[in-house]
Amino acid sequence: MQESCKHEICKNVYITTPIYYVNDVAHIGHAYTTIIADMLARYSRLTGLNTFLLTGTDEHGQKISQSAELRGKTPKEYADEISGKFKTLWDDFDITYDKFIRTTDEEHKLGVQKAFQTMFDKGDIYKGEYEGFYCVSCETFFTEKQLVDEQFCPDCGRPTSIVKEESYFFKLSKYEDKLIKWYEENEDCILPRAKKNEISNFVKGGLRDLSISRTSFDWGVKLPDSMNEPKHVMYVWLDALMNYITALGYGTDDKNMNFWPANVQLVGKDILRFHAIYWPAFLMSLDLPLPKHIAAHGWWTRDGEKMSKSKGNVVDPKQVADAYGLDAFRYFMLREVPFGQDGDFSQKALIDRIN
Ligand code: ME8
Ligand code: MG
Repeated sequence: MQESCKHEICKNVYITTPIYYVNDVAHIGHAYTTIIADMLARYSRLTGLNTFLLTGTDEHGQKISQSAELRGKTPKEYADEISGKFKTLWDDFDITYDKFIRTTDEEHKLGVQKAFQTMFDKGDIYKGEYEGFYCVSCETFFTEKQLVDEQFCPDCGRPTSIVKEESYFFKLSKYEDKLIKWYEENEDCILPRAKKNEISNFVKGGLRDLSISRTSFDWGVKLPDSMNEPKHVMYVWLDALMNYITALGYGTDDKNMNFWPANVQLVGKDILRFHAIYWPAFLMSLDLPLPKHIAAHGWWTRDGEKMSKSKGNVVDPKQVADAYGLDAFRYFMLREVPFGQDGDFSQKALIDRIN
């Protein structure tokens, strides 16, 4: 973080966490990201900087609507319930967030529509047809070549589904060179640096335009009215990434846009591609400055496997904090693994560390 700069604007510090999906209860992986962000925000405030910490929940998309349906609830009822649990947990953990955003917030939806319209007016969005593979769990499109054994998601291993539908596309390919230039000219824009090289090589391999609307379900932000496309909802990652600026009032009152660009955007390595490629490309399209750092940490594992609800190996952070104390838990999370590396969670490691 910059501290020496005397410019008025540099006294504003903006730190973000991912917005978490509401299909899952929070586990120590989510707590980890949020605790790191909170630590940075507390430090920043102590040094006298005007600091804004953002967290929240990601509530649209096929995955959430399917999870709600399984439980016999409407997506909104279901999202209200789980989003509330995340918020309560962060309150219990004394997380000093300045705003808790939900993608179902009215101002957020207006901001996303404004962004869509701006990119469309610029000529960066066109209508076409998407034909390919989709992983609902990762909310990600794949080409046949990317699949494992012609069927499975290369990220999570679940079966993908074949999608063929009318779709709007974002001209991601147009931003290839600009992205590469950004990585090259800003040594620490993506941290750790080794991750930046991976991303940069991926982009050098060529980017395809990105499908950014869906018509096969309706739990999402509608396109702007001017598009006259009532069947389309926005791709959940476009919707979700925009939270970082709609939380500051982008597209509505712009009230806190003086906090943009963000100083640090924390993410887990699972979602670095979205933040280090799509997100800066969207920002370039909107003519907004790029974040100073996107920082990706590693995974908490159990017996070497990534902790996730679907694997049934999650640890409840509240239980750990109740058993050992909140400060002990926070200390363990921050101290146990060097930023960027994976760490295996065990009660023994925690006890040893605290002792
Ligand atoms: O991806 N170890 O939400 P998500 C460490 N909604 N961190 C972990 C973790 C683990 N085992 N599991 C999860 C999404 N995390 C999207 C994000 S942002 C515009 C949209 C943390 O609920 C880590 O920060 O799947 C990871 O990136 C995030 O939770 C994924 O949360
Ligand atoms: Mg996830």
